[in-house]
Amino acid sequence: MATPFSDALLAALHHLAAFTLVSVLLAEWFMTAQPDPTERDLAQLRRLDLLYGLMAVLVLAGGVARLVWGAQAWSYYAASPAFWAKMVCFAVVGALSVKPTLLLLATRAPAADGHADTLRRVRHWISAELCAIPLLLLFASLMARGF
Ligand code: HEM
Repeated sequence: MATPFSDALLAALHHLAAFTLVSVLLAEWFMTAQPDPTERDLAQLRRLDLLYGLMAVLVLAGGVARLVWGAQAWSYYAASPAFWAKMVCFAVVGALSVKPTLLLLATRAPAADGHADTLRRVRHWISAELCAIPLLLLFASLMARGF
């Protein structure tokens, strides 16, 4: 169990990673609206996607750290339906992120249409991920309040 100060530090780490993850996802969503992407745009998108992956790992690590060393014992979360619903949302968002990552990696090779079609497809997958985020945040708030 944590002291209030170490719990606050873990919470700050978890929130920082989660806010960055959502910001990066939104940045990718806006960038994929580009109808005529340049090589530079594609390289930037690949970098953003890498940052997104790193943030997902950090959110997970911060979340697990809070389960182990946070203010509540693991048994508190294990008995929380909202916690498990949040884990399902996290897994769904993770699964939805595989395809856009693969599509973005493929933009390293040249394409006749300059990858405009690939970016449209990436944007659809990212839209689906963004739809799951409000639900995930709702479950996060509920789990923190004992649901
Ligand atoms: C994109 C993914 C995630 C987001 C956006 C997110 C967001 C949040 C937010 C906003 C809170 C604070 C809720 C509040 O105090 O009202 C929170 C708390 C928490 N999250 Fe996450 N989270 C994510 C993933 C995870 C994962 C994967 C885990 C565990 C493996 C996790 C474990 C926790 C724990 C233990 C708390 C503390 C709840 C409490 O105060 O009792 N989170 N999360």
